[in-house]
Amino acid sequence: MRQCFARCVSMLQETTNGTGPDRGSSGIGQSAAFFARSGPDVYAPTLQVVAYVFVKPAEDFAPTVRRLEVKKVQITQFGEPEDVAECVECSEVGAPAADEVAFDVLAFPINPADIAFCRGGYRLKPGIPATPGAESVGRVTAVGEAVTGVKPGNLVINLDRENWAQQRRVKADRVVALPRDTDVLQAAMIRINPPTAMLLLSDFVTDFGPKDWIIQNASNSAVGKLIAQFARERNLHTINVVRRDSAFEELFHDGADACVVDGPDLASSVAAITKSAPIRLGIDAVAGSAAARIASCVADGGTVCTYGAMSGENVTIPAPELIFRGIEFKGFILGRFLERRSRAEIAQIYSQIAERVRDGGIVTPVNRIYAIDDIKDALAHAQRGGRGGKILVAPHGLKALSYA
Ligand SMILES: NC(=O)c1ccc[n+]([C@@H]2O[C@H](COP(=O)([O-])OP(=O)(O)OC[C@H]3O[C@@H](n4cnc5c(N)ncnc54)[C@H](OP(=O)(O)O)[C@@H]3O)[C@@H](O)[C@H]2O)c1
Repeated sequence: MRQCFARCVSMLQETTNGTGPDRGSSGIGQSAAFFARSGPDVYAPTLQVVAYVFVKPAEDFAPTVRRLEVKKVQITQFGEPEDVAECVECSEVGAPAADEVAFDVLAFPINPADIAFCRGGYRLKPGIPATPGAESVGRVTAVGEAVTGVKPGNLVINLDRENWAQQRRVKADRVVALPRDTDVLQAAMIRINPPTAMLLLSDFVTDFGPKDWIIQNASNSAVGKLIAQFARERNLHTINVVRRDSAFEELFHDGADACVVDGPDLASSVAAITKSAPIRLGIDAVAGSAAARIASCVADGGTVCTYGAMSGENVTIPAPELIFRGIEFKGFILGRFLERRSRAEIAQIYSQIAERVRDGGIVTPVNRIYAIDDIKDALAHAQRGGRGGKILVAPHGLKALSYA
């Protein structure tokens, strides 16, 4: 169902851009029209829509005609992403070595970390020229002779970087095969945000009781929504801090327990919501003084974990919070927390997430899908506030998503 819906979103974009199939006569055209009428915030397929969508079974997957030149995104200097990123032609990735797989990249999201990468402000600062892209989903086109776990036609996510390209060739143990009927657009966003949300809830406070409260900011971000979804499954209550009250409706719709706009009175607003019940975990993706406001809501001896810095500022920690109240301030980055786990544990995490994405239990809203040639527009859009969903790029076009 969700996969079908992803296709409808794709077709909506295609028709919106004027590059898609003729509207009106085809079933797909009718599906797109349905979503156009319903508005971009509709994220639930209907049987009526499913009936219109042409689904090509995975077994029928036929490799596309190979080309000598393919496209990728490249930066040749660090700066504003839409200024420095170009879509360029490059050679095909070539046949995989014995332990490698090659795949066509079907979709990739633009994440805040990718924006920081283009600016040269991310923890990884590669040599130039460089291709950004922390995650993607792809369709395997060829595998080396020693590869056993993955085969052509499989849908995979890539654990390596440099994903903003039409093709990738990587070690086979760096891809994770997904169930064949996984929603392709959702699959493109599996690698980073879902495990981040999961581990933020598991690795700092290990003995939550039922209906304990947690608090987070940037709550309407993709990670924030996932945190709220996972917290609900764990019988935790969430206070969701945002910078604009127009985000409340979608957060409540997604199951948030309480929403509040950030500001100097945050602690008293939150105490009124929880009736002064203790909050042991605060999760911060804004940094700057916002981290201190989250800390002001957390009980003595509690933990504040900063995992993002959307304000672009350093965390400011009031000394009394540290000294008098014993608040622990911690930082999180997914790679470091995955490194603490065995390969089997990591595989288990991704398997759980893939299963949840497949059954529709984890949903990250998509705002718009761009062509790889339009990477500059996509990057500019990804940096606009109030998006309400992720910006994705489909390097092989929207029709390629229909066959996934
Ligand atoms: N440490 C890790 O391993 C890790 C992993 C994944 C993500 N992250 C971080 O998590 C954060 C969220 O990522 P995402 O992909 O979920 O983001 P996203 O879906 O692109 O959403 C960005 C969010 O940030 C909010 N925002 C932007 N500027 C802000 C500001 N100055 N003050 C307050 N809120 C602001 C936006 O609010 P509006 O809707 O109002 O514009 C939106 O809710 C990012 O900082 C990212 O780098 C870290």
